[in-house]
Amino acid sequence: MAKTAVAKMESTDFENKTAQEVLQWALETYHPKITCASSFGAEDVVVIDMLVKIRKDARIFTLDTGRLPQATYDVMQALMDKYGIKFEVYHPKADAVEEMVSQQGPNLFYESIENRKRCCGVRKMEPLSRALKGMEAWITGLRREQAVTRTDTPRVEIDKSQGGIVKVNPIIDWTTDQTWDYIKKNKVPYNKLHDQGYPSIGCEPCTRAIKPGEDLRAGRWWWESPEYKECGLHLKK
Ligand code: ADX
Ligand code: SF4
Repeated sequence: MAKTAVAKMESTDFENKTAQEVLQWALETYHPKITCASSFGAEDVVVIDMLVKIRKDARIFTLDTGRLPQATYDVMQALMDKYGIKFEVYHPKADAVEEMVSQQGPNLFYESIENRKRCCGVRKMEPLSRALKGMEAWITGLRREQAVTRTDTPRVEIDKSQGGIVKVNPIIDWTTDQTWDYIKKNKVPYNKLHDQGYPSIGCEPCTRAIKPGEDLRAGRWWWESPEYKECGLHLKK
């Protein structure tokens, strides 16, 4: 299955396509075996607006870690109301969360990188593998500008860490200004934490506002150094 999906991608030239054209191609090629990952950050709401305008039944999922800020649920609801759509929601396995928190406490992630990875593993990675089961491709809101770990990411790639399915990053080359221009022009609902100094938003205990001049993802896992700051969703194998 993955082989045919990859062949469809290898015969296409993406360099001169717009984000919308890339998404159009992706949906025509893979729907319903393609799904979009959304944490409802600025990039994701842009991609959602584009997807819904191409086809309203485009599949979109979110990993609800159980530790998200209320503002994230508010934008999720606002998007459901505005577009009349539903999201596929994945929660972590209750027994794994119970075991982890019983053994290591609610704030284990501050203690070591190992603990932080355990928490991301239970709350994000295992649910991600269920969300991508049977899929030929997935879509993300990644941008190269976001992190040192993302500067070489292609627009469309093979995701070896997810069994070799296709990964589509339609706005990989967009700037922050382009992202916000799109949101404003198209009146797309967005996470209100962005107005309070949060350019990148994940789980509540692992996200803080940044100061002027700080790096875009300086407020994510701020106690770790930049080269470790991937929770595993976008690791290169
Ligand atoms: S993270 O790996 O550090 O958390 P980031 O917040 O920059 O990632 O988001 C990058 C992309 O990963 C998003 O555009 C989205 O496609 C996907 N993503 C991140 N968090 C989630 C989530 N909780 N649910 C679904 N997709 C997510
Ligand atoms: Fe756990 Fe923090 Fe990772 Fe969320 S971001 S899954 S709370 S370690």
